[in-house]
Amino acid sequence: MTSPFSPLTELPPDPILGITEAYKADPRSDKVNLGVGIYLDESGKLARFQSIQKAEEILFARSEPKAYLPIDGMPEFNKAVQQLVLGADSSAIRDGRAVTVQALGGTGGLRIGADLLKLAAPTAEVWISDPSWENHLALFTKAGFKVNSYPYYDASRRGLNIDAMLASMRSIAPGSILLLHACCHNPTGLDLTPAQWAQVKAIVIERGLIPFFDFAYQGFGLGVEEDAAAIREFVAAGLPCLISNSFSKSGSLYGERVGGLTVVSESKEEARRVLSQVKRLVRTNYSNPPSWGAKLIATVFSDAGLKSQWVGELNAIRMRIQELRALFVKNLQLAGVDRDFSFVEQQIGMFSYTGIAATEVAKLRADFGIYMLDTGRICVAALNKTNVGPVCQAIAKTLKA
Ligand code: LMR
Repeated sequence: MTSPFSPLTELPPDPILGITEAYKADPRSDKVNLGVGIYLDESGKLARFQSIQKAEEILFARSEPKAYLPIDGMPEFNKAVQQLVLGADSSAIRDGRAVTVQALGGTGGLRIGADLLKLAAPTAEVWISDPSWENHLALFTKAGFKVNSYPYYDASRRGLNIDAMLASMRSIAPGSILLLHACCHNPTGLDLTPAQWAQVKAIVIERGLIPFFDFAYQGFGLGVEEDAAAIREFVAAGLPCLISNSFSKSGSLYGERVGGLTVVSESKEEARRVLSQVKRLVRTNYSNPPSWGAKLIATVFSDAGLKSQWVGELNAIRMRIQELRALFVKNLQLAGVDRDFSFVEQQIGMFSYTGIAATEVAKLRADFGIYMLDTGRICVAALNKTNVGPVCQAIAKTLKA
């Protein structure tokens, strides 16, 4: 009998998480992983938020049994997410037009949102930025969509290609799905200004597009509230939209898979229908979400002291990343790199799109055990005062070679 799996071909490793697999298999002790987007502290360890640790202690002391959560997740968590994303005074919340369901991280939120859109708008096409997070194309394709891209980045200027982006968006077919990075654009680290967001919003209204915000880095850009500004502008304009948010980065809860999908509908009645459909999607996929991460977030957000501690910790992280950007640029200069990397300090969030070419990326990996994405994206938040020097010297040697 032939194996039922014989038709399957072997796929290449994941462009982001595959880098971590290769890094882990590398025996060199001075290796550095600048691939995946995780925030490491000054000692190179995964950061721990004290606010979240306190919540963990509270929950341990309570020692609750491990009951199922509702299909759409923990109500207190969903409420907290909704206020965090839309703002406590949002008219969409007040009018009952917003529904939030707990999701398996930001990726889970994107996928349930994509599956919902496939039901609501089966023939729509999806538009993502060029470049975008590697998984956007794969995820929306897997959900059955044709995925197109709009220009975003101008490599020659290391800046936004704003005119081409707006022109492309103006030609998108009405009813299409427009994927937008709410803040800290992944991978370029280049965000739109409020005026540019207003232009995008006008096009969304004019063309009748469906905005879907990927909001994985709240607090890493300009601030917890500031980073939600574009979403809140769209919602205030009465636009239906979807938002996937995550606490992987903003709570250092990567492995807990804790995020949300918020859908803003036209009416309360529509929101009820949307929720019923999302619940069916969840129930037929994984039944209901895991509870620990959601309980942690709900505990932090239900306590004003813990919540403000969390905001403070995020502020400190944001400022440290800015310092790391400056340190990286300075160390490249000290190492004798002629190429201008000053743009790294203008970028925002966890990532820098360095412009380091794929051949140079391969050399850095082979010769020095320094891992980054093939596109030249690095996670600045994986640098520290100890590794930044060796990383920059390796880059200097590689660029000179
Ligand atoms: C990244 O872009 O590195 C992160 O969002 C992690 C991931 O899942 O890809």
